[in-house]
Amino acid sequence: MIAFNSETYKNRRALLRKNMGSGKLLLLGNEESSMNYKDNCYRFVQDSTFLYYFGINQPGLFALIDADSGTDIIFGNELSIEDIIWTGQLPTLRGRAESVGVNKVVVPSLIDQYVNNSTLYLPPYRPEHEIKLSNLLNKELQDLNAGVSLDVLLHISNQRTIKSEEEILEMHQACTISGEAHRALMKSASTEMYEHHLVGIFEKIGMNHDVHTAYPTICTINGQVLHNHHYNNKLASGKLVLVDGGLHSKGGYAGDLTRTFPVDSKFTSKQKDIYNIVLEGFMHAVKIAKPEMLFRDLHLQTAVRMTEGLIGLGLMKGNAEDAVANGAHTLFFPHGLGHLIGLDVHDLENFGEEHIGYLPDLKKSKEFGLKSLRLGKSLQEGYTVTVEPGLYFIPELMVKKQADGLHKDFINYDKVEEYSDFGGVRIEDDFVMRKEKFEKLGEYLERTVDEIEELRAEAFA
Ligand code: GLY
Ligand code: MN
Ligand code: MN
Repeated sequence: MIAFNSETYKNRRALLRKNMGSGKLLLLGNEESSMNYKDNCYRFVQDSTFLYYFGINQPGLFALIDADSGTDIIFGNELSIEDIIWTGQLPTLRGRAESVGVNKVVVPSLIDQYVNNSTLYLPPYRPEHEIKLSNLLNKELQDLNAGVSLDVLLHISNQRTIKSEEEILEMHQACTISGEAHRALMKSASTEMYEHHLVGIFEKIGMNHDVHTAYPTICTINGQVLHNHHYNNKLASGKLVLVDGGLHSKGGYAGDLTRTFPVDSKFTSKQKDIYNIVLEGFMHAVKIAKPEMLFRDLHLQTAVRMTEGLIGLGLMKGNAEDAVANGAHTLFFPHGLGHLIGLDVHDLENFGEEHIGYLPDLKKSKEFGLKSLRLGKSLQEGYTVTVEPGLYFIPELMVKKQADGLHKDFINYDKVEEYSDFGGVRIEDDFVMRKEKFEKLGEYLERTVDEIEELRAEAFA
């Protein structure tokens, strides 16, 4: 399915050609990727930049955007009778190309006539693309990265980062169905189930909508393990379940939502305290976000707000701003507040975080905590981002920081020890930065303690 009409793709390419001024850009679509033998492939995922400019979700294509002649070419083969035996008759490549406003389709074997050593290209992130670029452009593999066209990369990232209204609509849809899947989990989780049962429900809802997850779902009673992709724990009374999952829209845009809920019908008071500090941080971030604000500042101000909560609980002490300036909060909040989101869940990160989330005069920090903040630069109208504060009790990190004598003025380690089996809490929603407001994407998904407990009551009804 092509997400938008041909004008959208024509206009996107025309703007890129105008910004490039001159030169020819070679864009590689993705190939099938083999799992364990050649014909047994992973689910095909198109390259997002190819999808953005050419809309065709099909393996084995590449394209040339020619700013010198003002033309665009798609390279690919039509199905042969041998292919049709296995795939059935599919729309022709020529027909698909026309539906995205491209009139010229050329067989890949003729690509040599169109490219040379001065053809522009983007950083490859799949090994087969490195080999293909190396062969086509007659460059040594080790020289490929140095030869990437940084100017074109920045034109594309600026263009893709500012979302159009039709893209924002797709993102609303992605977040709404992702929310539907989260809600279904909260309504059904019980101590009879394992984590994988919840993942099954999540993915089933994706399949009901004929879409896939935008990234491997995190679904765990060990929320303190930030990227936990194992689902073999039984849901145990007294634990929290952290679910970080997102579905794609039909047009390929990602949702990325997190909810944390009790395995039991209600939060314990200890869980509620931590949950409400995260929620307070989340609400604070949403309230103060505005165009031109550095996302790094939003991150740090959210950290201060959560630190105030932790001081109130006796887990931390001293002045919250000083504590954050010293990095003491990173014991509990070691990751970043959020990231750009779009066709990719971490939008455009294949171009390199230094180009996407930062600027030449705003470099990413190397400090623990801030080094995991993927977006530092200022919010602009049309940016779509996640907001995802969290608090975690990572036993190994508690022991290490205490043993290293870190942040003694700000952390009550004795009190922290009482939380060593707590787990973690994260709350995540996606937003678009508008001129006047930071607009939530998708329908509201229950977020407060009362709202979540109401959903949990349905699981026990
Ligand atoms: N789902 C990964 C993240 O939230 O960044
Ligand atoms: Mn997430
Ligand atoms: Mn995220």
